Amino acid sequence: MKAIVVTDQAAGAAGMRLVDRPEPAAAINDVIVEVHASGYVPTEAEWPSTWTDRASRNRAPSVLGHEVAGVVTALGYGTTGLSVGQRVFGISDWHRDGTLAEYVAVESRNLAPLPGDVDFAVGASLPISGLTAWQGLFVHGRIRAGQTVLAHGAAGAVGTMVTQLAREAGAHVIGTGRAADRQKALDFGSHEFVDLDNDSLADAGGVDLVFDVIGGDIQRQSTALIRPGGTLVSITGPVEARPENALAVDFVVESDRAQLGEIVQRVRDGRLRTNIDGVAALDDAVAALNPTQRRKGKTVIRVRP
Ligand SMILES: NC(=O)c1ccc[n+]([C@@H]2O[C@H](COP(=O)([O-])OP(=O)(O)OC[C@H]3O[C@@H](n4cnc5c(N)ncnc54)[C@H](OP(=O)(O)O)[C@@H]3O)[C@@H](O)[C@H]2O)c1
Repeated sequence: MKAIVVTDQAAGAAGMRLVDRPEPAAAINDVIVEVHASGYVPTEAEWPSTWTDRASRNRAPSVLGHEVAGVVTALGYGTTGLSVGQRVFGISDWHRDGTLAEYVAVESRNLAPLPGDVDFAVGASLPISGLTAWQGLFVHGRIRAGQTVLAHGAAGAVGTMVTQLAREAGAHVIGTGRAADRQKALDFGSHEFVDLDNDSLADAGGVDLVFDVIGGDIQRQSTALIRPGGTLVSITGPVEARPENALAVDFVVESDRAQLGEIVQRVRDGRLRTNIDGVAALDDAVAALNPTQRRKGKTVIRVRP
């Protein structure tokens, strides 16, 4: 089968290649998914799990991509809950070969049914950004109606989901980003926008939840804005600036079938809009995902036309 792999950690994402690889076999509790569309996070080449398996053994060449939408073609021993021929979407396991390939083996519990009226490209764009936003806001951030959310990177893949879900939950959303991101952030539902290059973050005033996708100085400045009892949610690694009288959480997104169902239902009824900025074929994926070609929002790879 065709797959996009990296082999050289020093070269990172610039070392991506389209190669021929054996089709995966289904282990216990796995399903094999015939991949129709795949989503990729631009930082994958920096993740330790891209290079080693759970026992810290080198696993390169590693197939990239961890978001998938496709059709189940085989079940491993003991797999329940999904059936052959079913449309599915979800997150593939971080330590195993990913979804930028014609087939992927995924633990069944990490997938959810993809309704027949949702395009595969849309399905592949949702799992990581949608679940990260959901878990950051509702599981870790315990956001409530009437609270204020500072949504960093509000024009990006995660930030557009954070903005829409927080707004739907009745929060006031202050989006941030670069000057050029203002209109997109407002279009996705930010009530206000802070241009991090030219405005002062302090002018945002007190907030109940900071959803940080940037880290560093931006995180340090944001922490000072959190009201007592509020929360800093970081998705960029361990918290760098711990707020006083507030909770600080960093987390890595986990696949969750029920939450995927909530997210896709919102897409179907128009409450949630995905942030796809480009769709390319698998044969063109190396060029489309090249770090120098970065776009705002997600680039989805359509593996099967
Ligand atoms: N922990 C987890 O589970 C998890 C899950 C998903 C993503 N992540 C991480 O979260 C980060 C964001 O992911 P994403 O997919 O949303 O990325 P993305 O689509 O690139 O969005 C990030 C947005 O923030 C903006 N931004 C970054 N640094 C900025 C700065 N200093 N000033 C102003 N704007 C800035 C970016 O603008 P530019 O493009 O112009 O820089 C972009 O619009 C990545 O590091 C990713 O690895 C973590």
